[in-house]
Amino acid sequence: MVNPKPAYTGTAILLHWLVVALLVAQFAVAWTMPDIGRDTPQRTLISLHFSLGVLILFVAVIRLLWRATHREPEPEAGVPRWQVRSAHAVHWLLYVLLIVLPIVGWINASWRGYSVTPFGLFELPKLVATHADGWGWTGDVHAALSNYLLLALVGLHVLAALYHQFIRRDAVLQRMLPWVRFAQDQR
Ligand code: HEM
Ligand code: HEM
Repeated sequence: MVNPKPAYTGTAILLHWLVVALLVAQFAVAWTMPDIGRDTPQRTLISLHFSLGVLILFVAVIRLLWRATHREPEPEAGVPRWQVRSAHAVHWLLYVLLIVLPIVGWINASWRGYSVTPFGLFELPKLVATHADGWGWTGDVHAALSNYLLLALVGLHVLAALYHQFIRRDAVLQRMLPWVRFAQDQR
């Protein structure tokens, strides 16, 4: 379906900012929860980290389904091709990370013998057996992908949005803002 206006749909905007809010909460929890070692008991904050992470995975899957069935708006007129391409590359890497990162975390939680029970509702299956050979690396990779790769890409993405807003002064940021769309729709 093609959007009638060069802006994101309300659903795309809602899902985008929902993921941003969930990630802010997730990093706040990840950085305050106890350091996870061999015998760390499963404290509330650790369980909350798993719950939020599974929720982010769920929303990311819905977002990808939405994205697969709805085209993004045409690029802003006059934006150079290399910028359009690099924006796409960053967007797709972000999508990949939003799926891969929680799954690697889930594998690590299973490997450590923790129960992954989102918000106490139902227990998810273990992805690998406790202390199964060959899966110990998942904790370090999960933490590195989150603390370095995800945050670096988000930093780049936000800098690009600010560059469009304050240096190029075009409408790229506005396409993703709910209140601007609302104003357009009222016309
Ligand atoms: C997009 C979602 C997620 C983000 C952004 C995220 C972020 C993080 C971060 C930043 C750390 C390292 C904390 C530190 O610096 O000390 C961490 C550790 C961890 N996370 Fe996640 N996480 C996510 C999803 C999940 C999920 C779904 C699970 C499990 C179901 C999980 C399980 C773990 C575990 C077990 C650790 C400890 C790893 C270790 O140090 O060995 N995470 N997470
Ligand atoms: C304050 C923080 C953020 C701002 C200001 C922002 C801004 C934007 C803007 C303006 C767009 C539209 C770009 C275009 O039309 O070409 C966009 C798209 C996108 N953003 Fe963000 N963003 C932020 C945080 C994030 C975070 C944390 C993630 C995920 C980790 C993310 C993932 C995406 C993705 C995947 C798209 C592409 C949407 C699509 O075409 O399917 N953003 N963002």
